[in-house]
Amino acid sequence: MATSAEVPETPFDRSLLPAALRDADLEALAREFGTPVFVYDEEHLRQRCRDYVAQFGAENVAYAGKAFLCTAMARLVAEEGLHLDVATGGELFVALRAGFPPARLVMHGNNKSDAEIEMARDAGVGRIVADSFDEIDRLERIGFDGEVLVRVTPGVEAHTHEFIQTGTDDSKFGFTVSTGAAGDAVARVAASPALRFGGIHAHIGSQVFRLDSYAEAAGVVARFADDCERATGVTIPVVDLGGGLGARYLTTDEDPSIAEYAAALRTGLGDRRVMVEPGRSIAAVAGITLYRVGTVKAIPDGRTYVAVDGGMSDNPRPVLYGAGYEAYLASRPDVPRPRRVAVAGKHCEQGDVIIGEGRLPADVAVGDLLVTPVTGAYGTSMASNYNKVPRPAVVFVRDGAARVVVRRETYEDLVRLDT
Ligand code: LLP
Repeated sequence: MATSAEVPETPFDRSLLPAALRDADLEALAREFGTPVFVYDEEHLRQRCRDYVAQFGAENVAYAGKAFLCTAMARLVAEEGLHLDVATGGELFVALRAGFPPARLVMHGNNKSDAEIEMARDAGVGRIVADSFDEIDRLERIGFDGEVLVRVTPGVEAHTHEFIQTGTDDSKFGFTVSTGAAGDAVARVAASPALRFGGIHAHIGSQVFRLDSYAEAAGVVARFADDCERATGVTIPVVDLGGGLGARYLTTDEDPSIAEYAAALRTGLGDRRVMVEPGRSIAAVAGITLYRVGTVKAIPDGRTYVAVDGGMSDNPRPVLYGAGYEAYLASRPDVPRPRRVAVAGKHCEQGDVIIGEGRLPADVAVGDLLVTPVTGAYGTSMASNYNKVPRPAVVFVRDGAARVVVRRETYEDLVRLDT
């Protein structure tokens, strides 16, 4: 992953923005909906869904809801004809409440409870991805009657920079190929009179740019599928390769197309039916965050801290993963950004930064509207109420019109669970 240290002092590059937000009046949006606020280009979300469908077919693409899910997003995904990957009972609930067709749901999770499996069974969820022998027992006992895929851990990972052959055997997810557990699990599900075997699943990486490594990892999964079919006599109807295609957070990041990604997977998997579960690569670029600058503090011989009205509660990725972001000021997007700044949040810890080593125009001032692009994935979905900061609203923009799809939390919301 690129780091924020690489952010240039040149003016912001609008190619990081989705088309509908390049010339939008962001100040007007901030005045109408308040800050911080997540703003999505709805057409961009739809186009990314369509790009995936064009490459794989709608029946082979499940949007990974963990990247960004709410009722409006579930409906958008349903309208575009995709399947939807849900990883918990909570995500399943949101999808069902939104009216998402249950047959097009894929249920994940390394520790699904009885209650979650019963919920999936009762709703008519189409596919469940079994993650352990305990869960296979549970599925048989509960009588899940959709398709059961077996999650395998092939001991490989498609990585941002290099192809790592080892390391992922030590994973809490799935059945390890190298120990024979994966083959046993396939044989077990396929032989179960209570279950319908649906194929294998392997999630081989996240924020991946190196397409050759994808092809190589897909090849390893394909070899496992071939070996497994030979050894068990079971036909593997579907290979689901999970998500992982990287998003361009910084101008220095690569930007592989969905078509190139699809081609890379094909070289590994030939004629097999391939499903994918993209999350980030559908949602990330579509969304931006608008913050209001509250203080500008220049430390002599140190950094200038530009503090905004959100922080690690609406974007924990910099703190969790050292993820890099760019920032610009909505009122003057095209001016150079010579000033080295840290964009800090409002939380009570020093590590609460959105951008540790950022760049902004020299005259950045209190009241400026600061924009961080490419925050559509794993931002609002990982948001918290740390320090009792209410979570931001989510707004969709389409054809020049904006609508709230998730309202801003109020202080009253912060105590609604308290007894
Ligand atoms: N399918 C499975 C089984 C997964 O575990 C994931 C992501 C996806 C699909 C979607 O992957 P994507 O296309 O979004 O890379 N919070 C982290 C990302 C965690 C990804 C976990 N699994 C972040 O903010 O970078």
